[in-house]
Amino acid sequence: MKKNRELFIAGNWKMNTSVTEGVKLAEGLKEKYGNIKGVRLAVAVPFTHIIEVGKVIKGTSIELAAQNMNENEKGAFTGEISALMLKDLGVKLVIIGHSERRHIYGESNETIALKVKAVLNAGFECILCIGETREERESGMLEKVLKLQVESALCGLSTDEIKRVIIAYEPVWAIGTGLTASKEDAENAHKFIRKTVSDIFDESVAQKIIIQYGGSVNASNSASLLSAENIDGALVGGASLSVEKFSGIIDSVIA
Ligand code: PGA
Repeated sequence: MKKNRELFIAGNWKMNTSVTEGVKLAEGLKEKYGNIKGVRLAVAVPFTHIIEVGKVIKGTSIELAAQNMNENEKGAFTGEISALMLKDLGVKLVIIGHSERRHIYGESNETIALKVKAVLNAGFECILCIGETREERESGMLEKVLKLQVESALCGLSTDEIKRVIIAYEPVWAIGTGLTASKEDAENAHKFIRKTVSDIFDESVAQKIIIQYGGSVNASNSASLLSAENIDGALVGGASLSVEKFSGIIDSVIA
């Protein structure tokens, strides 16, 4: 346990791998980390992989996550996936508000707030992604953007609900680009996010909430980033797609 908060590393496979490849990847992770202690591990897999990957990691320390979920219970929403559909498949967590959902698919803070609520209502944990674009950072808007993203998604949640929220700070300019925020810039953003949570709820909630960093995390930068006081884990995209690369990150923080 770091600073009384558990380290949490999650892989986000995005729209990658066939089911067969995904199962192989999960098997590789299971072999190495099926019974891991000292760090929480999850994989957020494509919807089509949930059943088969779920079978592989069932009963292990590796948790199953979905990458998105529709905010409605059911109905005429072609191509969408509801909470009911994810229930009973072993899904524990759902990522909401990933920057690709916000920027490619136009999900607004309002939609994301509805999705967070739906995820929590269904009994799942939620990984809420937030983060600024390069223009927002360069024009001095960083704190304003993060505050709005946190407040719009979390205000009004009950004390039971907020316990099931993990925040992932992912600067948009760092995702998939090979650019990473410096440890200092990331720590400052995490500190600000924790303060915002404290202002909405209280200091004890803020001290408990897990805040992951995401954006080009790899085995060479993970140990340094995760040694920062307010960085409690990582949400990893590209480097979660091979057992070797993902292991490099996990091993760097449990060593
Ligand atoms: P990346 O993606 O590690 O490939 O930058 C992170 C994410 O989008 O969660």
